[in-house]
Amino acid sequence: MPEPIKSNAQGVLNRLRGIVRPAVYLSQNLISRIGVVLTTTAGITLVFAFGLLIFGFQPNPYAGIMVFFILPAIFAVGLILIPIGIVRDLHKFRRLGTLPVAYPSVDFSHRGVRRTLLFIAIMTAINVPIFGFATYRGTVFMESTQFCGQTCHKVMDPEYTAYQRSPHARVACVECHIGPGAPWFVRSKLSGSYQVLAVTFNLYPRPITTPIHNLRPARETCEQCHWPERFSGDKLVIKTKYADDEKNSSTKTVLLVHIGGRNPDSLLVGIHGRHLGLVSYRPGDAKRQEIPWVSYRAADGTVTEYASTETPPKPDLLARGELRTMDCMDCHNRPTHTFDMPENAVNREMAAGRINPALPFIHKEAIELLKVNYRSRLAAETELPDALREYYRKNYFAIYNSQRAAIEQAAKGILYIYQGNVFPEMNITWGTYPNNLGHNDFPGCFRCHDGNHKSKDGKEITQDCNACHSLLAMDEPDPKILHELAGGN
Ligand code: HEC
Ligand code: HEC
Ligand code: HEC
Ligand code: HEC
Ligand code: HEC
Repeated sequence: MPEPIKSNAQGVLNRLRGIVRPAVYLSQNLISRIGVVLTTTAGITLVFAFGLLIFGFQPNPYAGIMVFFILPAIFAVGLILIPIGIVRDLHKFRRLGTLPVAYPSVDFSHRGVRRTLLFIAIMTAINVPIFGFATYRGTVFMESTQFCGQTCHKVMDPEYTAYQRSPHARVACVECHIGPGAPWFVRSKLSGSYQVLAVTFNLYPRPITTPIHNLRPARETCEQCHWPERFSGDKLVIKTKYADDEKNSSTKTVLLVHIGGRNPDSLLVGIHGRHLGLVSYRPGDAKRQEIPWVSYRAADGTVTEYASTETPPKPDLLARGELRTMDCMDCHNRPTHTFDMPENAVNREMAAGRINPALPFIHKEAIELLKVNYRSRLAAETELPDALREYYRKNYFAIYNSQRAAIEQAAKGILYIYQGNVFPEMNITWGTYPNNLGHNDFPGCFRCHDGNHKSKDGKEITQDCNACHSLLAMDEPDPKILHELAGGN
């Protein structure tokens, strides 16, 4: 019985006509036309952008802001403008009593309809290239380090400053924070837009809390450039320290750090080979500084679980706590925002000669000046150098007169350290961000390698000093090993 179907289709058609005709008739006003132009322009640009994505074009990561947020927003605004114009006209015509009894059919020979179409076509043709160009320029700018580091100037100042001093100073923020590929734009853009709001309305935490939980896995960022399979062997690390005496007596510690690699053929897998993808853990606190439970999957597949005997994991943690597989960031959590401790920083600047070790008590003074609680970074800029000058003027007047340049240079060196590490506006000071690489200033490796993490059968995560490094010399004034390495005796 084909009859009812036909009349049904007819009914739908009629109803459609009842919507389309008034809509077209009433939309011949500026607001609706602008709406249509915005919608079609954004729509065409979007289709074009998605087309590029599908065909494997990898724009810079920040293209996401434009493609996923701004263009759809314009699209939506256009869609909203169309009915606003229609409703306005409806009210206007009703008031004037000029509302037609029957709406005219959509007729392309009608002048109004043609003019609307022409207007939309011309505006779209002009707008699409403009939108395309704006999208391109906008994203190039937004992925730049200046945008990340300086647009939210105060917020990211600490990270930007530390970054500029780091080995990654030439690596763009987005290479680690977003990385390549489409899905991560979206995720980071979602959190990114929240961050923009947070900054605008002053809602962000000071300091910014870490660890960053939605940071992209290291496999997809760090490993774009670093290749753990190719790491091997040992790294010689020489640390020079100065004492707090008048002479700033120096000693050296020499370590051979067994960094090793993830090379399955090698037995000497070392530090890198023994964790990546093999060790999982459940942190006991938000900062991942306490680690009550650890599991290790050996090369033969056997899994060993270790629990802290000092702070045993609570049943709740084992059932529901975060379970994390170790990656680069669990040790290198400060690869580029490397904040220092005063002693380390002063030792390093002295060893490099930027703070002259010949100045009496300079080591002790420098550390004291760095630990002062200055009101602001601006205040430190004058107060810190003044205090150093004053110290030498009062205690070593002859040196104050004869070694002015060395004192000024030292003051500059100390201020440089301060400015890289203390940011009162963001509540960042010495030690705010723990560094997990090592065990001297922060728990670091000893979060697990503390000798208190034991398995059921009594095995423990080693604290053997020679497992991670050979201590070739420790705090020696003139280590023999360095002469031997240099070929002397
Ligand atoms: C070599 C990789 C790398 C680069 C380049 C990089 N970051 Fe980071 N950044 C990280 C890692 C890893 C963390 C996570 C630290 C954590 O979770 O404990 C981080 C954390 C942060 C944080 C959170 C606060 C903090 O200090 O931990 C901010 C803000 C930040 N980065 C901003 C930036 C800005 C701005 C740039 C560019 C000027 C940048 N980052 C460049 C790797 C990088
Ligand atoms: C875009 C490439 C790139 C990315 C991504 C990258 N790095 Fe690097 N990294 C480098 C380069 C280049 C150097 C060497 C700099 C130098 O020797 O001056 C380096 C140096 C290092 C060093 C040695 C630092 C030192 O003090 O000698 C470490 C550790 C490191 N990167 C860890 C990481 C970690 C962890 C990540 C991921 C969060 C990462 N890198 C992401 C390029 C990159
Ligand atoms: C278990 C902790 C740990 C993990 C996990 C780890 N590293 Fe390391 N890494 C170290 C230590 C310790 C050193 C030696 C640091 C030093 O003494 O300067 C090091 C050194 C390095 C260096 C410098 C090598 C050199 O010759 O100077 C690079 C680059 C590096 N790591 C990258 C990575 C990357 C990329 C990952 C992730 C794939 C990673 N590391 C994972 C602990 C770790
Ligand atoms: C989350 C816990 C955890 C952290 C943090 C950690 N490790 Fe480990 N590490 C382990 C586990 C588990 C093993 C394997 C134990 C086993 O063999 O059963 C291991 C093994 C090792 C080994 C091999 C030891 C041996 O005798 O063969 C070295 C070397 C090592 N770790 C160095 C480091 C260094 C260096 C750091 C800090 C930069 C570090 N680890 C941080 C859990 C950790
Ligand atoms: C789980 C691995 C691991 C174990 C176990 C370990 N260390 Fe270390 N140690 C490190 C790492 C990593 C560093 C950092 C190297 C660097 O800063 O480049 C370090 C640094 C040091 C330094 C130099 C620190 C400085 O800044 O002067 C000394 C000294 C040291 N360790 C002594 C020891 C002694 C003593 C033991 C035995 C009780 C020990 N370590 C056990 C991993 C370990």
